[in-house]
Amino acid sequence: MIKVEHINFSYRPNEPVIRDVSFTIKKGEFVCILGHNGSGKSTIAKLLTGLLSVDSGAIYIKGLLLNENNINEIRQQVGIVFQNPDNQFVGVTVKDDIAFGLENRQFPRETMLELIDKYSKLVNMENFLDYNPENLSGGEKQRVAIAGVLAANPEIIIFDESTSMLDPKGVKEVTDIINTLKGHKTIIAITHNLNEAVFADRVIVLSQGGVILNDTPEVVFTHKELLKNSSLDILESMKLMELIEKNEHLKNKQEIEAMLWEYSFQK
Ligand SMILES: Nc1ncnc2c1ncn2[C@@H]1O[C@H](COP(=O)(O)OP(=O)(O)OP(=O)(O)O)[C@@H](O)[C@H]1O
Ligand SMILES: [Mg+2]
Repeated sequence: MIKVEHINFSYRPNEPVIRDVSFTIKKGEFVCILGHNGSGKSTIAKLLTGLLSVDSGAIYIKGLLLNENNINEIRQQVGIVFQNPDNQFVGVTVKDDIAFGLENRQFPRETMLELIDKYSKLVNMENFLDYNPENLSGGEKQRVAIAGVLAANPEIIIFDESTSMLDPKGVKEVTDIINTLKGHKTIIAITHNLNEAVFADRVIVLSQGGVILNDTPEVVFTHKELLKNSSLDILESMKLMELIEKNEHLKNKQEIEAMLWEYSFQK
């Protein structure tokens, strides 16, 4: 579905941001891209959607080499929920925004309204349809952006830290939505949230613009030192395992509980 071959990219001369990155993503796969701030995740998302073009190397979407000639065709296949939802809005109202991706499909008005209704409800924004998106909170904007991309129904969806502004309930709701797409859509989820990465079929870890790991979450999370050295966290459960290993003297459940309680309030 997606094939990335030895791509390089820099915003400024002699300051490479993406260095010789290659990976493939199969149809229906759910891939997480993890990486520290500035590692190049959003840049890759923009390269995949043709918002930026590579300096060298090639990107193929469904076998088609991404270039200026087929960019419009490819944009129909690849939807993106941007990290900063302010970059996403085009309409005067939430309703317009959700409808935007539907417009070039020439659906009858009735169908459009049904889709707007369905997707606004899915993200709990059905009571905001006549609002100006500018006046929404960050989390509300993210929900509208997600509804818009889902409504447009592209085959490939990129979520660039789409839950970063949501409260825990919102994160759970959106993660649940993403999980229901699993297997039906090809999904790239860019995230710092390791718990989201656990659900992925595969995790690609970026560091300083290069791929340092590309494997199942089970394998990726065993590379604790590599993750830590790339300014990434490890799973909370792994931290607890480390803690228990370090405290060899622990004898029973009470002592483990006491240690965990203390750990929770470590300052
Ligand atoms: N428009 C731009 N012009 C110049 N440099 C840029 C631009 N956008 C990003 N960069 C630089 O490119 C590098 C990669 O940025 P990118 O946004 O891809 O990182 P990221 O992995 O998405 O980070 P984050 O986790 O903070 O979202 C950074 O060093 C950033 O400063
Ligand atoms: Mg980013």
